[in-house]
Amino acid sequence: MTRIDWKNLGFDAYRTRTVVRSCFRNGEWSAPEATEEFSFTFDPFSQVLHYAISCFEGLKAFRHKDGSVALFRPDRNAARMRMTANYLGMPCPDEDMFIRMCEECVKKNLEFLPPYGYGASMYVRPLLIGIHPQMQLVPYPEALFAVMCAPVGSYYGESMKSCAAVIPGNYDRAAPKGSGRYKIGANYAATFMPYKIAHEQGYTELLYLNSSTREYIDEFGSSNFFAIQGNKYITPLSDSVLPSITNLTLQEVAADLGMDVEKRPVRLEELGSFEEAAGCGTAVVITPLSHVDVKPVLEEPFVGKSFRFFPDGEVGPVSRKLYARITSIQNGEAEDIHGWCHFI
Ligand SMILES: Cc1ncc(COP(=O)(O)O)c(C=O)c1O
Repeated sequence: MTRIDWKNLGFDAYRTRTVVRSCFRNGEWSAPEATEEFSFTFDPFSQVLHYAISCFEGLKAFRHKDGSVALFRPDRNAARMRMTANYLGMPCPDEDMFIRMCEECVKKNLEFLPPYGYGASMYVRPLLIGIHPQMQLVPYPEALFAVMCAPVGSYYGESMKSCAAVIPGNYDRAAPKGSGRYKIGANYAATFMPYKIAHEQGYTELLYLNSSTREYIDEFGSSNFFAIQGNKYITPLSDSVLPSITNLTLQEVAADLGMDVEKRPVRLEELGSFEEAAGCGTAVVITPLSHVDVKPVLEEPFVGKSFRFFPDGEVGPVSRKLYARITSIQNGEAEDIHGWCHFI
């Protein structure tokens, strides 16, 4: 019997019991296999190792009060993985197979699914990698699709806290007409070092601008950006940002709450006119910002501009309200009027 401290879960690659996997070879997917073997074997020349032919998804499963278990909007993740796989020229499971394998992974690891009431959930991580050994820079129709999962905690417990973000003037996340809007592993590689430096300086998040003109806000290294101005929920329209399912959901929640939703290019200077600003994504749901510093050179002492929203730790009322609403739908406490919960 596994003993897990449900109250103090972080967001880590927690080792559960079972991985569900399937391979695409000779034009078809193999029957999905649930295995307790936590390793993959493939050729050292595989595309994934040399050319980063790799993409992934992230979604959550929740235990509701009545004991039922629901994945949150898995159809959206299935569609996004398909879009990303097309970009990489990879075969991709269809929506039905994607969701069935996510369900199977959660079912096989049920003992690791946090009980209702801890604010915790099961993070499900589908992964698609190119395993064909080759030197040429061309797609090859062979892939491994695997689904792993890990129990994860609520980032905030009872009290949500705001944190600082930095705009790193000497780093970009995505090129214009590049891969920014796809969930490929390579996009994240470029953020490792700037994240390390930012964390050492006390910033939690990196906020990237559009790389061609640096006039507009794109997104954070690991989440989308949104801001509140009066009764408006504002979020960037950009070809270089990942289409976040949490952001999409928050836009719908904001509209349900009577807010106006604006999806449009957001100028950096507008930060000064927002009452609240935050990141949003599956892992944290909402990361409210206390302030954003603009640093021309991330490694050097701060000489740029600063936009302040709240004292460190304090959170605006609208971010709080949106967070409460989305998490109560995910946990099964509020009515799921849009049919976002996919029961297993
Ligand atoms: C770069 C980036 N943007 C946005 C998001 C948020 O997307 P989602 O809400 O689908 O998790 C993520 C991942 O969570 C991300 O890695």
